[in-house]
Amino acid sequence: MLYDIFSSLLKQTNPEVAHQLAINVLKRDILPLDLFKFKGDDTLKSTVFGIDFINPVGLAAGFDKNAEVYNSMFKLGFGFAEVGTVTPKPQEGNPKPRVFRLNEDKAIINRLGFPNNGMEEIYNRISNQVSKGVLGVNIGPNKENATKVDDYLTCIKKFYDQAHYIAVNISSPNTPNLRTLHDENKISELIEALNDFRSNQKTSKPIIFKISPNIGTSEVEKLAEIFLNKKIDGLILTNTSIEGKENLRGKDREEAGGLSGSPIYTLSNKIISSFYKFLKGKVPIIGVGGVSDGETAYEKIKAGANLVQLYTSLVFKGPYVASNINEDITEFLKRDGFKNISEAVGVNANQ
Ligand SMILES: Cc1cc2nc3c(=O)[nH]c(=O)nc-3n(C[C@H](O)[C@H](O)[C@H](O)COP(=O)(O)O)c2cc1C
Repeated sequence: MLYDIFSSLLKQTNPEVAHQLAINVLKRDILPLDLFKFKGDDTLKSTVFGIDFINPVGLAAGFDKNAEVYNSMFKLGFGFAEVGTVTPKPQEGNPKPRVFRLNEDKAIINRLGFPNNGMEEIYNRISNQVSKGVLGVNIGPNKENATKVDDYLTCIKKFYDQAHYIAVNISSPNTPNLRTLHDENKISELIEALNDFRSNQKTSKPIIFKISPNIGTSEVEKLAEIFLNKKIDGLILTNTSIEGKENLRGKDREEAGGLSGSPIYTLSNKIISSFYKFLKGKVPIIGVGGVSDGETAYEKIKAGANLVQLYTSLVFKGPYVASNINEDITEFLKRDGFKNISEAVGVNANQ
């Protein structure tokens, strides 16, 4: 009830201001632990890239860019949280306005351009608290270094010991030229540099790559071959889309930037099942793009995702979304006769 009033006020506010308000509330960490009736279920547990997850629903990158509230997100029922994108130096991002909420489409268009506090400040913030769940750190380059490997190396060195996994973002549409890192030679060079770094560390942490939805089947096939050869640990599929805006209804539909939420759901599922087939299920996938309820999350799992993430539906559906999704998936698994979530992964990939 209180949330509904708060939410309808937020929906009338500028999206970036509303987001900052939400961060400020979550930062106070005043949420009681028993806020949600669903307490989890053993069928939702799985081990993916060597990490134990209590449930498959994660917070996608971009919501907690500066690692301020991830511990509160675990209380909301998220099984893992990814902070960032973090860049080596702090940066302001693009001029405002740069986030547009399309209420009619249950979608967002953003062209933020990685505004963040920079790796030193974010590293110190993470150091000052004990993570209460699985923490991914999503890394990227500063705007002026967009196609260079060095910024990724600088960030992975900083966060390697702190994070449970590192997500390598090569797919934001809002940093000019970043997506050229999908080119075969460039991605190979980047994977090798990061693997070289890791081979000199005492522990082996998963390094996973976040990919654009705006690639064709032949590109998926070529990338999958590289990923299998170079033995990457995992993929996040997908980032926001620069395509698929023609059927939108919201008044800001023509704004430049990456589209997220319901309109990219089918597109991202296609990329998931396509990669799953070419990778023969050998590389774990985090499915993201338009997850908004139990059905949409479960479909992504059946298309080939081991885990899912969401951002946009948190804006439209509010803080109960992760908990509700987990409750629904538990029922679907039982209904369909699966003993645990891993058994459902990829069962529909060939459809
Ligand atoms: C406002 C906003 C900011 C985002 N910032 C980032 C980011 O910094 N790094 C990143 O990898 N993805 C970022 N994303 C993309 C999301 O992590 C996710 O891949 C995408 O929104 C699709 O999921 P969704 O439909 O559940 O939102 C952002 C998305 C939104 C809406």
